[in-house]
Amino acid sequence: MSRTPLIAPSVLASDFANLEREIKMLNESEADYIHIDIMDGVFVPNISFGLPVTEAIKRHARKPMDVHLMIVQPERYVEAFRKAGAEIISVHVEACPHLHRNLQQLKSLGCKAGVAINPHTSISELENVIQDIDLICIMSVNPGFGGQKFIENTYRKTKALKEMIVANKSQALIEIDGGVNEANARLLVEAGADVLVAGNFVFSSKDPKGVIAALKRG
Ligand code: DX5
Ligand code: ZN
Repeated sequence: MSRTPLIAPSVLASDFANLEREIKMLNESEADYIHIDIMDGVFVPNISFGLPVTEAIKRHARKPMDVHLMIVQPERYVEAFRKAGAEIISVHVEACPHLHRNLQQLKSLGCKAGVAINPHTSISELENVIQDIDLICIMSVNPGFGGQKFIENTYRKTKALKEMIVANKSQALIEIDGGVNEANARLLVEAGADVLVAGNFVFSSKDPKGVIAALKRG
């Protein structure tokens, strides 16, 4: 029997005009985290939303907020997102020339320290800090937009990262972000994924709670 993944629906794909309703739906669902995508229009070619919307989500959220910062100089904003209620904060390795310092900052704020890596980035970038990381977010699309096609190399990358985590006795969870759906969910869990982010696959469905439950079952 395959392991049961944690499911983190991405509100980027939700109906922003009805955020309260969408968050309450997630509260009632089998979702484990609420994935929040922050885009600055610099690190990625798109702007999503920022602190006020994150604070508004927190007012209704009954599940941990998993904040994915697709921004340059994330060290300038992590404290504010922590105060806004983030339990997990991920910074992008490509935006952090001093990643060890970023991880220490996240830990000092009392949140789980996450690192996201773009599709082209080698997992070897993380090897020397892997024991300081709580969650590694493997991007399975190029960050910036929801609804993109899943990149197949993600399976190979996930397997290699799992081996690196085990070899280094790290506790890091592997999260997969982008293009996750019923066709790849089980294969990703078999490759070593612990957390599956899903945006469009959940929110474009007529039965989002059913989709979340189905992703969990694999
Ligand atoms: C992409 C974001 C993802 C996105 C996933 O830059 O980081 O979290 O919302 O959406 P789907 O599941 O639609 O690819
Ligand atoms: Zn994301």
